[in-house]
Amino acid sequence: VDVVVLGSANADLVVEVDRRPAAGETVLGSDTQVLPGGKGANTAVAAARLGAAVAFLGAVGGDPYGEMLLGSLRSAGVDTSLVRRSDRPTGLAYITVTPDGENSIVVSPGANSALTRDDVELGDASVLVASLEVPVPVVAHALELAAATGVRSVLNLSPVAELGLSTVDILVVNQHEAAWLLDGRADPRRLLALGPRAAVITLGAKGAAVAVDDELHEIPAHPVTPVDSTGAGDAFTGALAATLVGSGASRGAVGADLVSAARRAVRVASISVTRRGTQPSYPSASELS
Ligand code: ATP
Ligand code: RIB
Repeated sequence: VDVVVLGSANADLVVEVDRRPAAGETVLGSDTQVLPGGKGANTAVAAARLGAAVAFLGAVGGDPYGEMLLGSLRSAGVDTSLVRRSDRPTGLAYITVTPDGENSIVVSPGANSALTRDDVELGDASVLVASLEVPVPVVAHALELAAATGVRSVLNLSPVAELGLSTVDILVVNQHEAAWLLDGRADPRRLLALGPRAAVITLGAKGAAVAVDDELHEIPAHPVTPVDSTGAGDAFTGALAATLVGSGASRGAVGADLVSAARRAVRVASISVTRRGTQPSYPSASELS
């Protein structure tokens, strides 16, 4: 495979609401939709839709949600041979979406919490992508393994948590995560001081900002009418990884190809926000031409 994606697989229980309830309040919403999600599985599907050979490294329970998630991964062409079956229930994400396309999410990790360092295998991949709805020590171990074996690593530090970043090649965060990491101005050049070799901040409707070799590159988003931004960051990260593979850069390299990969990732993510759900909203390569 080209890309190993380490991260969560969740069934997304999505309900549309006019507004979110305050504490102690009840609001009525739409019928519930049950959709395949989870930051890791989403990222794997986004990368595979663009033609990369992707393996997903994660865990699901032995319940129907787990089957749904495996089915979605496989139908996108993702290799699921590294997926662990756990006794714990498949991860669930309780998601509300408001008419402006914004979401808020509570994740119940379940089986995602059962992953261990021993489950980590990178095979012959040239890129590792990781995100943080799985145990932090497992992610730290995978990043160390990637650094030691010349595999390019992309870390989507989401949900944000304390983690050493010196083994990371490319750090991807959104504005909230950047604000948590940096006191004040969200400039990706300031993230480089934390250890990664390059950094990207996704800026929602404003696109993304990339720092490579201390230079700042600003990439505007395509103007769209968003209907559901859930999973836009995962679409971005998956597209970035798939494009880095296609760029043919040598293992372990981080360079100018990151900026053109980020341009394509912005394009993919902006399409994803015009459609509902996460995995079902990701475009294929043919839709980009
Ligand atoms: P989410 O948590 O909703 O999945 P995120 O907070 O991780 O997303 P964002 O920075 O909001 O990440 O969005 C990721 C990318 O998606 C942006 O870099 C941009 O390319 C695209 N995007 C998001 N919102 C919009 C929008 N309203 N219009 C166009 N593109 C958008
Ligand atoms: O990034 C979006 C994802 O976050 C959803 O699919 C949900 O499962 C949560 O993990």
